[in-house]
Amino acid sequence: TSAQIGVTGLAVMGRNLARNFARNGYTVAVHNRTASRTHALVEEFGGEGDFVAAETAKEFVAALERPRRLVVMVKAGEPTDAVIQEFAPLLEPGDMIIDGGNAHFADTRRRERELREQGIHFVGTGISGGEEGALNGPSIMPGGSRESYESLGPMLEKISAKAADGAPCVTHVGPDGAGHFVKMVHNGIEYADMQLIGEAYQLLRDVAGYSPAEIADIFRTWNTGRLDSYLIEITAEVLSHVDAATGKPFVDVVQDRAEQKGTGRWTVQIALDLGVPVSGIAEAVFARSLSGHTGLREASRGLAGPKAAPLSPSEAGAFADRVEQALYASKIVSYTQGFHEIAAGSQEYGWDIDLGAVSAIWRGGCIIRAAFLDRIRAAYDARPDLPSLLADETFAQEIAAAQDDWREVLVAATRQGVPTPGFAAALAYYDALRAERLPAALTQGQRDFFGAHTYRRTDRDGSFHTLWGGDRSEVPA
Ligand code: 6PG
Repeated sequence: TSAQIGVTGLAVMGRNLARNFARNGYTVAVHNRTASRTHALVEEFGGEGDFVAAETAKEFVAALERPRRLVVMVKAGEPTDAVIQEFAPLLEPGDMIIDGGNAHFADTRRRERELREQGIHFVGTGISGGEEGALNGPSIMPGGSRESYESLGPMLEKISAKAADGAPCVTHVGPDGAGHFVKMVHNGIEYADMQLIGEAYQLLRDVAGYSPAEIADIFRTWNTGRLDSYLIEITAEVLSHVDAATGKPFVDVVQDRAEQKGTGRWTVQIALDLGVPVSGIAEAVFARSLSGHTGLREASRGLAGPKAAPLSPSEAGAFADRVEQALYASKIVSYTQGFHEIAAGSQEYGWDIDLGAVSAIWRGGCIIRAAFLDRIRAAYDARPDLPSLLADETFAQEIAAAQDDWREVLVAATRQGVPTPGFAAALAYYDALRAERLPAALTQGQRDFFGAHTYRRTDRDGSFHTLWGGDRSEVPA
């Protein structure tokens, strides 16, 4: 038997992906460092399709039809390099290694370059949707060569999620590390979405005075409108869950320290290198780290501040509507920032990424899937050179309609001492972009004062320096 595809690394994501291929009619070679896992998979799910269990790397490679398609589903970093080192010597030119983990795109670029010398296609592939998505249809973001996509694309299209219009949620994102880069930004946006939802929850709880169960219902209502998305949907589920042991709302018995595995942090690190202001995503990453500083929080608990006084029930409903506006406007801003980063990465690395295609494949399967993404796709389809999502007329109009409420929510949050770094960063970004003049002119003056760093004038070309320590006349620099 020769398998059309192989999966090595059979932890839950790898196992589910292998099953997904098998359920779609492909013969799948499966391999794991410890063979017991391989056999367990075939024993338990063998009925779902055709599996070939391979105990050794050699057996695994021999089981694959040529050109070989070998999906690696191990931990990002060191383990991925180890697997590549194990398999690459057994492969032949034209074969493909598909890395489906959350690799850093710089590692993917390096691996692609190294394996290319051997004639092997290395396809760094973002896969989103968690365990459930891997099994029933994830959103898939492959990079690597166009040639590899010709061989691989049809299979990925088959196992991927389908958007509401039936389109498969996979596209060839671009060469080498483009797929993992886009997956990284997806996760940054995921962090921002989660942070904004968290802030909305906190406001509804502390300012509006709703209970978690009531807030769950509000999120359920929002989920029928323009905020319709997977993250809003599961938020309602989490908020309505009651802890069996205590009878308390589940959200009240979980420690409020958010963890992270790194992709959101990478999004911000890379944005800093590219000079892209992803302030909303950055606040989301910082909010997670702040939450984890238990000692610092403990030491700060006595600091002065207003005590949140809940609104009357009659005011609460109107406030909830305002929060929806603030959440939606802030969400537009974080996607604007995320897409800006993808555009900048594409430019820097020569990837030629189609932003409309990226928004299209995020419509289904992935964690940030949302009705909203169809509208982003429409915006980029209408104007592929759109400089910013905020420049799209529809989004601009929606923010125009939302902005009064957005500001009111931030006023209330500030007055009552409820931290809303995501909402605030988004609004500051919006206002800074709209501003006629920014205090950057003053910054330039200061830089010129203390370091003769020079400045440009509004009325003449060239660089200038003022003789601050002397007669303060201006000289060309
Ligand atoms: C996805 C997710 C996934 C990510 C987890 C955890 O697209 O399926 O982004 O890849 O690893 O959501 O991320 P953190 O542990 O960093 O929150």
